[in-house]
Amino acid sequence: MIIRTLGAGAGGGLPQWNCGCANCMLARAGLIPSMTQSSVAVRSGPSQDWLLLNASPDIRQQLAACDALHPRNLRDSPIGAVVVTNADVDHIAGLLTLREKTAFRLYATPSTLAVLADNSVFRVMDDNLVERVPIDLDVAFSPVPGIEVTAFAVPGKIALFLEGVEPPDTCTLGEQTVGLKIVCSGKVFCYVPGCADLPDWLCLRLAEADLLMFDGTIWADDDMPRIGAGPKTGARMGHLAMHGPEGSIARLAGLGSRRIFTHINNTNPVLDPSGPQLAAVTAAGWQIAADGMEIAL
Ligand code: MLT
Ligand code: MN
Ligand code: ZN
Repeated sequence: MIIRTLGAGAGGGLPQWNCGCANCMLARAGLIPSMTQSSVAVRSGPSQDWLLLNASPDIRQQLAACDALHPRNLRDSPIGAVVVTNADVDHIAGLLTLREKTAFRLYATPSTLAVLADNSVFRVMDDNLVERVPIDLDVAFSPVPGIEVTAFAVPGKIALFLEGVEPPDTCTLGEQTVGLKIVCSGKVFCYVPGCADLPDWLCLRLAEADLLMFDGTIWADDDMPRIGAGPKTGARMGHLAMHGPEGSIARLAGLGSRRIFTHINNTNPVLDPSGPQLAAVTAAGWQIAADGMEIAL
């Protein structure tokens, strides 16, 4: 299986348009790499048919930067299918860019498909060409040749733009936030770009992976309030911290797999190459994803 990280950033990317935090300043100055918003392309070794995991608002730039995803003929794309893990803007807005009359299959849970159906702007994807296929949780399907995908519920919340006046349940388990188990030639890749908690059963499930890419939005729950970037904690945003006794580093410490954090928010201190947070992540056996990172599994 060939896995290419098209984007490693959380919503907003790095730098984010309205953010002057230390990381965004460093990225604007070219001192640390910029990141587009999270998305991954996957294909089986023998097939040229790619599967996209989420469609980020930066998809146009991401596809332009990846030769393997360029058209091979007049009006063509090697993208056979897109799987969407939730209805967050950073995971669906790129669908609007895939509107120029080329066929592909779009897979998402019924509740995420309902969000798309409720937003008429997504009708720019021609129904005659883009088949919207509902995913059943815990049932494997094959969106492109040689690749088998199983979606499973992980703790999370509804998309920000669907929130009402009352704060939402930030740790719901259901169709609105899923992780993906992707199997190819006996190798297992788990992709979980958003996750609010790691109960024992989920740690066990992720232990199946040869490669895990996991939610790295925040280092600590108070990343944003600590630097004055806004009042929201990680928990309120539906993202589990890396750090701390219940954080992802500690909860997934027993895993033998290769472990990579992705969906990194621009305010996350792990992006400082000389900081103690990156040293701690690395010492714990984790890597930080970067745009353009390619892995053969
Ligand atoms: C998230 O991952 O929490 C969302 O992408 C936030 C957002 O919609 O900006
Ligand atoms: Mn996001
Ligand atoms: Zn920033």
